[in-house]
Amino acid sequence: MSKDKPGTPAGGDAGHPAGAPGDRKEGQKTDQKTGQKSGYTHFGYEEVRVGEKQQRVREVFSSVASRYDVMNDLMSMGIHRLWKRFVIDLAGVRPGEKVLDVAGGTGDLSREFRRLAGPQGLVVLSDINEAMLRQGHARLADKGVLDVPLAQANAEKLPFAEGTFDCITIGFGLRNVTDKDAALASMTRALKPGGRLLVLEFSKPLNAGLAKVYDQYSFKLLPLMGKLVARDADSYRYLAESIRMHPDQATLKGMMENAGLSRVQVYNLTGGIVAVHRGYRLD
Ligand SMILES: C[S@@+](CC[C@H](N)C(=O)[O-])C[C@H]1O[C@@H](n2cnc3c(N)ncnc32)[C@H](O)[C@@H]1O
Repeated sequence: MSKDKPGTPAGGDAGHPAGAPGDRKEGQKTDQKTGQKSGYTHFGYEEVRVGEKQQRVREVFSSVASRYDVMNDLMSMGIHRLWKRFVIDLAGVRPGEKVLDVAGGTGDLSREFRRLAGPQGLVVLSDINEAMLRQGHARLADKGVLDVPLAQANAEKLPFAEGTFDCITIGFGLRNVTDKDAALASMTRALKPGGRLLVLEFSKPLNAGLAKVYDQYSFKLLPLMGKLVARDADSYRYLAESIRMHPDQATLKGMMENAGLSRVQVYNLTGGIVAVHRGYRLD
C-alpha cells in the first residue's frame, strides 16, 4: 500500500470504456467543469434527473442489503477487509473520541471504531437506507456491539450540530451520493475544528495494464457474479459503472479542499483501484 501523489490529472471523472455517456447534443447547457448537462446527474452511465438518483440508489441498496456482506467478500476476494483496516489505522481513533460512520451500511467501520473509542467515546452509524441500517444493526448485535446509535440520514444534509465529531468516515458511500460537494460540506461542518474526514472509495488505477484487467473483471465478471449469486445483475452493473464515473484521486482531493478541508492527503491502495483521502477541518 503506497501513500503517493495521485498519478492522474485533476479536472475530470475517472475514465470509462466505450459506450459510456459523453456526447452532448448542441444547445444543451453543460457545467463547464464537469461536462454534466444541467439538472441531470449520473446513475452509473445513465443520465438521470437530479431528483431521480437518490431513489435509484435506494433501490440498489434495498435490493442487495441482505446479501451485501457475502457479495462484498466474494467480489473483492476479501480485500475490502484490508482496505477498511487501512482506514481504521489511518483514522487513529482514540479513547473518548466521537466518530461518525457516514453511509456506514452493515457497520464494518463502526464496529472497530466502537472498540477504539472506548466507553467514554461515541460512535454513530449513519446511512440513508433503512434496509442497510437494519442489516448493520443486526450484524453489530450479533457481535455483541449494542451501543452504536443509528441515524438514518442523507450525507448531503447531516442532522448533527456543527462541530460534533472528532472523526468522520465515509466508506464506499460517496460515489452513490447525488451532490458530492454538498456531502463533503455537510461532513466538514459536522467535524470539530481539528477533526478529520476520511473518504474510502474506488478510484482510478494508476497503471494502464491494471486498468485493462480491472475493466474486464468489473464489466464481465461482476455482473455475472451478481446474477448467479444475488440474482441481480443490474445492481452489480451499476456498481462497476458508478466506480468509473466517480471523480479520480486528484479531483476528489480538490473537492475536499473546496469543502474547507486542509492537509488533504491521498493514499492509493491496490494500485489505485481504491484510494483513501484524509483531510482536516482546521478552523
Ligand atoms: C457500498 S455501501 C457501503 C457500506 C459500508 N460503508 C461498507 O463500506 O461496507 C454504500 C452505502 O451508501 C449508502 N448511501 C447511498 N447514498 C447515500 C446518501 N446520500 N447518504 C448516506 N448514505 C448513502 C447506501 O445506502 C449504502 O449503504
